Amino acid sequence: MSGITYDYMEQYIKGLITEESDILEEMKIYAEENFVPIVQKETGKFLEFMVTVKKPLKILELGTAIGYSSILMSMYSGKTTRITTIERDDKMIELAKSNIKKYGYEDRIQVLPGECLEMLKSLNGKFDMIFMDAGKGHYNHFLPECLRLLNEDGIIVADNVLFRGMVPNNDLLERRKVTIVKRMRKYLELVSDNKLFITSVIPMGDGIAVTTRRSTTNEQA
Ligand SMILES: C[S@@+](CC[C@H](N)C(=O)[O-])C[C@H]1O[C@@H](n2cnc3c(N)ncnc32)[C@H](O)[C@@H]1O
Repeated sequence: MSGITYDYMEQYIKGLITEESDILEEMKIYAEENFVPIVQKETGKFLEFMVTVKKPLKILELGTAIGYSSILMSMYSGKTTRITTIERDDKMIELAKSNIKKYGYEDRIQVLPGECLEMLKSLNGKFDMIFMDAGKGHYNHFLPECLRLLNEDGIIVADNVLFRGMVPNNDLLERRKVTIVKRMRKYLELVSDNKLFITSVIPMGDGIAVTTRRSTTNEQA
């Protein structure tokens, strides 16, 4: 049970997602067998949807793992889209680089080794889409840097924001996850309780929050 939605709902939605590329299937099997956390099936489909609609030219990802989601986003983006992805674990970096090379995305995906917050501070330039998928307990700390790096009409997609149902429901909260959950709640408050942003929280996968800046021309009187 995910703690996010009803099991029957989750199974049904997953069941609707049929077509998978061989590359993604192979990586998914590796991740499952080696306990590497990668985006859930429906979250992968959501990313595919977002890059198709948004057509971002520059994507920033926090949390590469074996490169699954960055390869997925590359596959469904235009050839000119470039992805920068941050990862601190040496073994993951090695595996991601090898997968990116194996599947021919070397010129489109750059893996930046290091801690997200440090790397974010060192980056310049603007991104059209930022995918947060690392350091669940630090999204609230990453946010100011992500906003600095986000294009005016850019979007932030944050995964795991409902964290197995613990964020909305104290009955599910495990004691050793209290800090992560408190900080995730803070992140959701920051992006929700601010007239400058519009955020939609979707109870899908482990919970996704999509945030963009509210256009000043659309401001309600
Ligand atoms: C959930 S996995 C990323 C999965 C990947 N986005 C995918 O779906 O294919 C999170 C990754 O972030 C890395 N990570 C966690 N905290 C980090 C931090 N503070 N800085 C850099 N990397 C971090 C972990 O080593 C792990 O590989």
